[in-house]
Amino acid sequence: MKPCDPEEALQLKYPEPVALAVSYDEQNRRPNIITLGWFMRTSFSPPMCAISVGHTRHSHTTISRGGEFVLVLPSRHQIEAVLHCGTVSGRDHDKFAETGLKALPATAVRPPLIEGAVLALECRVAGTCESGDHTIFIGEVLAGHIAEKPQSPLFSMPDGSIEPLPG
Ligand SMILES: Cc1cc2nc3c(=O)[nH]c(=O)nc-3n(C[C@H](O)[C@H](O)[C@H](O)COP(=O)(O)O)c2cc1C
Repeated sequence: MKPCDPEEALQLKYPEPVALAVSYDEQNRRPNIITLGWFMRTSFSPPMCAISVGHTRHSHTTISRGGEFVLVLPSRHQIEAVLHCGTVSGRDHDKFAETGLKALPATAVRPPLIEGAVLALECRVAGTCESGDHTIFIGEVLAGHIAEKPQSPLFSMPDGSIEPLPG
C-alpha cells in the first residue's frame, strides 16, 4: 500500500449503486426527487435504511419537515431522469414534470413511488445523524414495492456517467 489523498482513494469505490429519494415539498405543493449515491440498509428488524443528504439540498428541507421519504432504485430506462434529478434543485424545478417520471400513490407515506423502478421502499424518518456537510436520515421501512417485470438497477461510474450492469 502507498499513501494518497483520501479523495483519490474514494474514487476507487465506483461503480456505486444509485438511488432516488422522493419527498413531499409542502412549500411548492409537489413531490421532489433527489439522486443519491450515499444510502444503505441499516437494520434487519425493523427494516431500516439510511440516506445521506447535503445540507444545501432542497430535499434536506423537505425530508426534515415532512419526516418521510420513498427510497427508489431506478431502472435502466430512467438514466436521463436520474441525471436530471441529480443536477437541478426542486426549489425551482418540478422534476416529475420535467423528467416524465410517473408518480404512483404510496400506501403508508405521503411522497409517491416512481413507476418503472426496480423497487421502492416507503420510509418514515426514525432518527438523524449529522455527518459533516450532510445529514444521515435513518428511515424505518413501512412498505415495499417491486417492479411487475424484474428490472436492473443503475450504477454511477467514476466519470460521472450512469450505467446498468452489463448483460
Ligand atoms: C450520481 C449522483 C449521486 C449523488 N449522490 C448524492 C448523495 O448521496 N447525497 C446528496 O446530498 N446529493 C447527491 N447528489 C447530488 C444531488 O442529487 C443534487 O444536488 C440535486 O440537484 C439535489 O436536488 P434537490 O435540491 O432538489 O434536493 C448526487 C448526484 C448524482 C448525479
